[in-house]
Amino acid sequence: MTTSIEETLVLVKPDGVARNLTGEILRRIEAKGYSLVDIRLLQADRELLAKHYAEHEGKPFYEPLVEFMESGPVVAMRVAGNRVIEGFRVLAGTTDPTTAAPGTIRGDFGRDWGLRVQQNLVHGSDSVESAERELSLWFG
Ligand code: RTP
Ligand code: MG
Repeated sequence: MTTSIEETLVLVKPDGVARNLTGEILRRIEAKGYSLVDIRLLQADRELLAKHYAEHEGKPFYEPLVEFMESGPVVAMRVAGNRVIEGFRVLAGTTDPTTAAPGTIRGDFGRDWGLRVQQNLVHGSDSVESAERELSLWFG
């Protein structure tokens, strides 16, 4: 029996793009064996970000999060592979870059900068439902 091939949305957040880490992040995704299906560099507007982060509306970090995400260009990637949703989140590491495990993207390249929201380099969809919703937002 085979599991169905999944797709996930990966975002290289403005800190990752500004630090020229897009290639390194894509290298890790491809080295793991996942496939890049589509990619675009764009400046996200507030309307898109409000939809993307709707689940966090009203939380204390929501406004700083949206301001951070609109502070510069992001790279959106459609990435495919069996269990890629779970697999990319393991590659990314935990949300807080200070404690994210070494070997992960956030653990190797992230740190606390004393800002109002954690700048943690990447986003990855957290479920099949989120991936479908987010891929249609970012890729139409
Ligand atoms: P993401 O959605 O960006 O992939 O990150 P995640 O699943 O690991 O974390 P999530 O809970 O979805 O939070 C989204 C982003 O909001 C910021 N955040 N700050 N307590 C905090 O200070 C806090 N919690 C979340 C982070 O930038 C996180 O990536
Ligand atoms: Mg999340």
